[in-house]
Amino acid sequence: MTMPDTSLSDTTATSRTDRSATPLLRVRDLSVRFGAVTAVSSVSFDVGKGEVFGVVGESGAGKSATARAIIGLLPPTARLGGSVLYKGEELVGASKARLRKVRGPEIGYVFQDALTALDPVRTIGAQLAEVLAVHRRMPARQALEVAADLLSELKINDPKRTLNAYPHQLSGGMRQRAVIAAALIADPEIIIADEVTSALDVTVQRKVLDLLLGVCSARGAGVIMITHDLGVVAQTCDRVAVLYGGIVAEEADVIGLFDAPRHPYTGALLRSMPRMGESGAFVPIPGSAIQVFGTLNTCPFADRCERAQPRCREALPAETRTPGGSYRCINPLEGMA
Ligand SMILES: Nc1ncnc2c1ncn2[C@@H]1O[C@H](COP(=O)(O)OP(=O)(O)OP(=O)(O)O)[C@@H](O)[C@H]1O
Ligand code: SF4
Ligand SMILES: [Mg+2]
Repeated sequence: MTMPDTSLSDTTATSRTDRSATPLLRVRDLSVRFGAVTAVSSVSFDVGKGEVFGVVGESGAGKSATARAIIGLLPPTARLGGSVLYKGEELVGASKARLRKVRGPEIGYVFQDALTALDPVRTIGAQLAEVLAVHRRMPARQALEVAADLLSELKINDPKRTLNAYPHQLSGGMRQRAVIAAALIADPEIIIADEVTSALDVTVQRKVLDLLLGVCSARGAGVIMITHDLGVVAQTCDRVAVLYGGIVAEEADVIGLFDAPRHPYTGALLRSMPRMGESGAFVPIPGSAIQVFGTLNTCPFADRCERAQPRCREALPAETRTPGGSYRCINPLEGMA
């Protein structure tokens, strides 16, 4: 399997992670239920300082539920289990007051509906300055200077004018950069970027992603890059977790995942992906994504898997550790896809 062109960003060419160190974020056995629907089951992964960690999967795979669980932004009806350690501090079960202090200056986030996150009746400058007033107790004048510098870093040509603008006066790409600036301005250690560019034109998407990663790389911030697009993973991430039916089907470093996927779902995702410079047909995955009810006691991919065996339906496959990560499959691919 050939990696797609990864020339997007020079920040992605080498791993920025020191994996010998204690991870910044350690997620263990995370589970999220919405009534009878099980959105996330037994999800575990680590994100290191400066690492770009991808979370990829089809719609409904549990990507956003995982992200919201990490920062305590699930609706009150959701049931959350497992552990989220941020610098060794347990966030699952932490007080609302503590979580409000973590969100922003410790863990920043941009959600997929972010374009509606800006207040339409306040200027971009007022909204960015407020973040610094709340989290850093910074006076307005100084906050606006910091905001202007950040907008320059995000390649906004006339930062002062943008700070004085209302959201509707900006193009989609500019508004998205303002939202990203709001997530970055308190200088978090990790940014959760949930489909940050999917609402944008394809040509603008690349540029905005590159700018986001450039700023994070310059500050040494870790990134959780949530996407349904393996092309984005190839171009931006160091490591990746492939989610299916709320479980981590496979976790690996990105080069390993593209070169030698072990989980049949990963293999199918790769075959379904158009690749630059290759004329061969890409093959859609048959069937549709699963919604899980109650406790998952089967492989969630069994109905769509060409390697399925009867025992795949007898229990959730255990996690098998590999030198570079893990997978949950009892009849894995041998290596090369
Ligand atoms: N507030 C909620 N109430 C009930 N069910 C929910 C809620 N939020 C998510 N779900 C369900 O949980 C599952 C996972 O949803 P989630 O939003 O995490 O998926 P996703 O991977 O982010 O998908 P997408 O790519 O479409 O954003 C889905 O089955 C979804 O219907
Ligand atoms: S456990 Fe079985 S059904 Fe699930 S991915 Fe592996 S081979 Fe396919
Ligand atoms: Mg989502």
